[in-house]
Amino acid sequence: MTNNMFFIANWKMFGDFRSVNSIKKVIKFSRSKKFQKAQIIYCPPYTLINNFIKLVKNTKIKIGAQNCHYSQRPGPFTGSISANLIKSIGANYVIIGHSENREAGETNKLINLKIKSALNSGLKVIFCIGETFKEKRKKVTRQVLNKQIKLGLNKIKNKKDVLIAYEPVWSIGTGLIPKPNDLFNTINFIKQINKKFKVLYGGSVNPENIKKLKLINNIDGFLIGGASQNPNKFIDIIKKTYN
Ligand code: 13P
Repeated sequence: MTNNMFFIANWKMFGDFRSVNSIKKVIKFSRSKKFQKAQIIYCPPYTLINNFIKLVKNTKIKIGAQNCHYSQRPGPFTGSISANLIKSIGANYVIIGHSENREAGETNKLINLKIKSALNSGLKVIFCIGETFKEKRKKVTRQVLNKQIKLGLNKIKNKKDVLIAYEPVWSIGTGLIPKPNDLFNTINFIKQINKKFKVLYGGSVNPENIKKLKLINNIDGFLIGGASQNPNKFIDIIKKTYN
């Protein structure tokens, strides 16, 4: 475990204006000296980004979006949000390539365009990759990850602003996590593709299994779905990572 761990809350399509209070607890917690090294990033739905940005002013918490359009320029794209627009309201990050969007038709090529657009806009990218259960069973995980990384980051020089989030599709929302040894080896494999990559793990991270996960010493942080919506659980995950 490195000291500067990332804890990224992906709220997905959850959270209305009342959920804003949930972040206040975490803001208070983030001020405690003991956890100064934890890098907390909230990715709420677009509708809450502005509220969250105001709340985290003068704190070390950063805000991100959960996706963006591939076009950096404004255009006739009804219902879409560009990376430039996200940056312009003060967010710093964007999640790209989440499996829930890949399942809805996002290709590696489109993901590549989105990553380029995000980096050009000055956003940092949380780039999600991961194999399905079928691919795991066929033992093609490494080929799948290699392809996702190569195509997703094709012709991108500035990789230092890209965090890789390894999220096995079969572990998202299922309560299942990879075997520690498998996870260690997969993360090592990703880091061998580029030694500078920071690699996070995502998929059913919760206050119980964090005790196991934190022992895997090549993980640089966690991308947390369900458990991040509950401030007590989210705080518990951070505390247990360092204790
Ligand atoms: P869960 O933590 O709910 O399994 O979601 C993981 C995820 O998809 C984060 O991006």
